[in-house]
Amino acid sequence: MSGLFISFEGNDGAGKSTQAVLLKEHFLKKGFAACLFREPGGSDISEKIREIILDNGNYKMKHLTEAYLYAAARCQLVYEKIMPALKGGQIVICDRFLDSSLVYQGIGRGLGISVVEDINKYAVGGLKPDLTFFLHLNPSEAIDRHREERELDRMENQKAYFHNRVYRGFLEIAEKEPNRIIKVEANRPLKVISEEIAEAAERFINERGL
Ligand code: TYD
Repeated sequence: MSGLFISFEGNDGAGKSTQAVLLKEHFLKKGFAACLFREPGGSDISEKIREIILDNGNYKMKHLTEAYLYAAARCQLVYEKIMPALKGGQIVICDRFLDSSLVYQGIGRGLGISVVEDINKYAVGGLKPDLTFFLHLNPSEAIDRHREERELDRMENQKAYFHNRVYRGFLEIAEKEPNRIIKVEANRPLKVISEEIAEAAERFINERGL
């Protein structure tokens, strides 16, 4: 498939969403066609699934149900939005993708990475990010950033040990795929981070082409 698929990953509050927006703006300024989606969400149906997942009232949700809901939201986004955009040669930026499920549900919830891979096999239709920026920030620092901004949702409200497991999970998968997953230190000024990310993305495009 043509185009370029870039994802952003990291703990809640690590600053992914801001960096994803900045990278999209950077590409648009350079004259590239680029679009940005968030997970869970990014399409009307996926946004409805997101509401169910993050609703604090849904505290009875089973871990497997949660994994399937993330996969369902992802499946709709992949087939409705991401694949057509990539086929059109666009740069697609996704604020979280499959790695989040592997880490949050597979490691954080303890379902196991291979179970979560199986659940997502048909949902992603073989699609994998070409490049992933992992925003690395100590989990307690990260969640405090969010707490200052707004009320926390069902996932953010998980106990500290859950966020610590997620943190270690991201480090683990980043180590496994160093060519795809670029670790970015998130505890620095926004502009320094965004420039580092833009440079790395452009280097990738120059080497591989679009
Ligand atoms: P997100 O909107 O990125 O939250 P934040 O901006 O706080 O990082 O993601 C919503 C929550 O869903 C977040 O706590 C991470 C979690 N999540 C999973 O547990 N599994 C997944 O597959 C995805 C995509 C997100």
